[in-house]
Amino acid sequence: MTTDLIRRSVIAGTGSALPPRRVTNAELAERVDTTHEWIVERTGIEARHIAADGETTATLATEAARKALADAGVEAQQVGLIVLATATPDQTFPASATRVQTMLGINDCIAFDVAAVCTGFLYALSVADNMIKGGMADYALVIGSETFSRILDWEDRTTCVLFGDGAGAILLKAEQTRDQGVLATRLHADGRHNDLLYVDGGVSTTGTVGKLRMKGKEVFRHAVVNLADVLNEVLVASGHEASEVDWVVPHQANKRILDATAKKLGLAPERVIVTVDQHANTSAASVPLALDTAIRDGRIKRGDLLVLEAMGGGFTWGAAAVRY
Ligand code: UT7
Repeated sequence: MTTDLIRRSVIAGTGSALPPRRVTNAELAERVDTTHEWIVERTGIEARHIAADGETTATLATEAARKALADAGVEAQQVGLIVLATATPDQTFPASATRVQTMLGINDCIAFDVAAVCTGFLYALSVADNMIKGGMADYALVIGSETFSRILDWEDRTTCVLFGDGAGAILLKAEQTRDQGVLATRLHADGRHNDLLYVDGGVSTTGTVGKLRMKGKEVFRHAVVNLADVLNEVLVASGHEASEVDWVVPHQANKRILDATAKKLGLAPERVIVTVDQHANTSAASVPLALDTAIRDGRIKRGDLLVLEAMGGGFTWGAAAVRY
């Protein structure tokens, strides 16, 4: 740990948003050839939230951002940067971050989207952290928001049962501190694995939005190895040991991935925040949603050492060590 005061990005507030409509496994089993038992046993998922007409990535993101601002006691006008991680934007362009900006009533700040699918929040956090450290902003909203229900093939039981909609946001604040806030981030991508997890359409190829396709078993195998590696990497970069970690806040894709990754690192399973049972996989929203859930229910407390991690399409993967 450094003894010098450094300009760092400290988490001043968090918030999240879920569409009111909750869909259980039993309800899905009426639509596709699946069972509650299969979904729970293979994934740990019991329910997910699905956006209604009019609820979009930007509206969910705005609700989560408003809560994060209120939690921090900061006015929207103070925000100098909005980074929104999403693979399901409201429009191909402009960036959904600018819709969030407008809904928050901010007339001028930096606002853009980041596309790294399920790792999107880690990418957004790292970008915002480095922009704060570089003096580009004093307050930054980092948001993960998704409406994956709109790119699911509802006939494909191997994917449609796995995902849900939602948003999570954090407000970062520049502060001179020794060991508080974002301590280290590490990001990776390997585009050779494009065909294991992708959407079969796009603006420049088919001119359509497309549907999500995934070879789940192969993604699973890569996920455990990549996540354990990047967690180790970020711990070394932050100067901390696995034994010092109070909470792991992982991307919520599958309970079995969370268990296997924790085991590989020798982290106690009760130190891992699990929300996949109630939210399913919300892609870029899952890490900030899990973080906000565990802060709200009192598990994560000020001063706790957190490691955030995610892996997804690309492949992309990444992690952050944060003192909350
Ligand atoms: O967020 C980005 C990262 N994504 C992930 O991390 C996802 C990683 N992958 C996974 O989570 C898991 O691989 C899945 C949950 C997607 C699948 O679990 P699995 O244990 O790997 O199952 P499987 O794909 O090997 O399928 C086993 C069987 C198959 O039947 P056969 O071939 O054994 O007869 C599937 O057809 O389960 C069948 N199956 C289902 N059965 C009932 C697949 N989906 C379903 C379903 N309901 N929804």
